[in-house]
Amino acid sequence: MASLKIHGAVAVVAVIFLAAVVPSASTTVDEPATYKPTAPAPPPPSYPSPPPVQPVIVVHGVIYCKSCKLRGYNSGMDASPLPNATASLVCYGEEESKYRVLNQTSTASDKNGYFIVMVYDVDMFDRHTCRLYLRSSPTALCAKPFMPSNPKLGLNLVRDRAATAPRGARSVWHVKTALMYAPSAGGKCPPY
Ligand SMILES: *[C@@H]1O[C@H](CO)[C@@H](O)[C@H](O)[C@H]1NC(C)=O
Ligand SMILES: *[C@@H]1O[C@H](CO)[C@@H](O)[C@H](O)[C@H]1NC(C)=O
Repeated sequence: MASLKIHGAVAVVAVIFLAAVVPSASTTVDEPATYKPTAPAPPPPSYPSPPPVQPVIVVHGVIYCKSCKLRGYNSGMDASPLPNATASLVCYGEEESKYRVLNQTSTASDKNGYFIVMVYDVDMFDRHTCRLYLRSSPTALCAKPFMPSNPKLGLNLVRDRAATAPRGARSVWHVKTALMYAPSAGGKCPPY
């Protein structure tokens, strides 16, 4: 019964509406042919909302090959940038009293030895529990850990306030020194 009443009310409203509209509609029909009915207003444009910026923590640095005169040799450091090497960032944390380890490999270093680690699991990042390690060298000719010399001891991170943070970055971190591999004792340097 209730729904019938509502339908009845809608019908009444529709009739009133038509009664109000039809007379004016009939007058427009009599207007000259130049009359152009106005198009209905287009719906408001719906732009896709921009993707949310995922928060990230950035750790970056450089990896060198000690005592080898390769491309980009730096005489002050007596070392050269080592391309295609990697570092890893390891952080220990707890979440809901579950022990967790973040172990993330950097990008391969570029021709300047530069690498980056993007940490999207930002809750795992804590400067007190995160350390940066040498991970891999692209060549057996420069693969002996030199800085840090004990590959099991990672380097502490410090905030890099001079760096321009990429979009979404909460903070940028680095270590105070370049990471370095060296040729094994008496070994040859890589040919590049
Ligand atoms: C680095 O790796 C890329 C791709 O594997 C390779 O083309 C390039 O020659 C490598 N560079 C060096 C210096 O090893
Ligand atoms: C991180 O991962 C690498 C490669 O799987 C492994 O060699 C290394 O032992 C790991 N480090 C830690 C602390 O889990």
